[in-house]
Amino acid sequence: MKILVTGGTGFIGSHTVVELQSAGFEPVILDNYYNSNEKVLTGLKNITGVAYSCHTIDCTNEEAVRTLFKNEAFDGVIHFAAYKAVGESVEKPLKYYENNIGSLLVLLKVMQEFGVSNFVFSSSCTVYGQPDSPPVTEDTPRKPAASPYGNTKAICEDIIRDHVFSNPGLKALSLRYFNPVGAHPTAEIGELPLGVPSNLVPYLTQAAAGLREKLVVFGDDYNTPDGSCIRDFIHVVDLAKAHVKAIELLNSQTEANYYDVINVGTGEGNSVFELINTFEEANGIKLAYTVGPRRAGDVEKIWAQADKATTVLQWTPEKTLTDSLRDAWNWQQKITKK
Ligand code: WQD
Repeated sequence: MKILVTGGTGFIGSHTVVELQSAGFEPVILDNYYNSNEKVLTGLKNITGVAYSCHTIDCTNEEAVRTLFKNEAFDGVIHFAAYKAVGESVEKPLKYYENNIGSLLVLLKVMQEFGVSNFVFSSSCTVYGQPDSPPVTEDTPRKPAASPYGNTKAICEDIIRDHVFSNPGLKALSLRYFNPVGAHPTAEIGELPLGVPSNLVPYLTQAAAGLREKLVVFGDDYNTPDGSCIRDFIHVVDLAKAHVKAIELLNSQTEANYYDVINVGTGEGNSVFELINTFEEANGIKLAYTVGPRRAGDVEKIWAQADKATTVLQWTPEKTLTDSLRDAWNWQQKITKK
């Protein structure tokens, strides 16, 4: 079965291509390389043995997407392609609304024209805002997003829900990711942040590699056991496998107008300090860091109630935080050497 993976050379997209291939699917990559590059295709070939090509298309380009669907008979779509920098979205909200919502509208419209009925959407736990009492279930009320980026995810979920209910036969899942971390154990693919990483783990590994000044922990005065924020850090390979399970579920789904939302996290919360300590123990490295002021917009604590992913997707995370941080460090050392 041929699955279109938009953003297929990105961090989560590339790992999902590997797992789709391994599960017997035929992933087709679409990416405009806005936040990645074609070297990822080499890494994918080294892992899978498949020389993928990449359709370098912007998902907001309706004619280009339509031409692709004319040439390829897709059995499903996994839509990763989106801008995802929280801070930038605050500075340039229109750029985020135009791209993240525009690309979804184009895909849903063209899918309908070609009768493609299985759709998996990359959503985010950011739609929960600061939950009153984690863990969050899928029924936890969404809160006004702390950023335009987060708001695009909530709006996209609503668009998909409404479109599915008006479009018999379309089946869709929105997967709400928590904090994807790590890299492929082969160190052939991993996270490639552009510029100064805003996310914790890539900044941490770059600091450990001497590429950045000290890691700054954004606040140790939160209402948490050690004062630092708590997150649900999930290995990117486990997250990728959840997408394969999602496509398999949609393929087997007979219910018309099927739509659901599923948390994809480990179900465990770890603090920033715990992550730092785990990194040091996993890699035998002492990490220099300082504590700075809180970062505006940060959620104090959030982690998933992930039971639904187990019962509905038959998926459970297999990797530990130690695995994630060991793989992240191996990847960082590999790309630092280049
Ligand atoms: C995690 C924790 C920071 C950097 C965001 C998006 C989410 C998803 C993942 C796209 C926080 C602390 C960070 C640093 C630090 N993005 N931190 N020093 O903000 O939980 O989630 O990225 O899909 O949608 O909201 O991730 O890694 O930026 O921060 O102390 O240099 O690490 O304060 O507590 P976040 P993060």
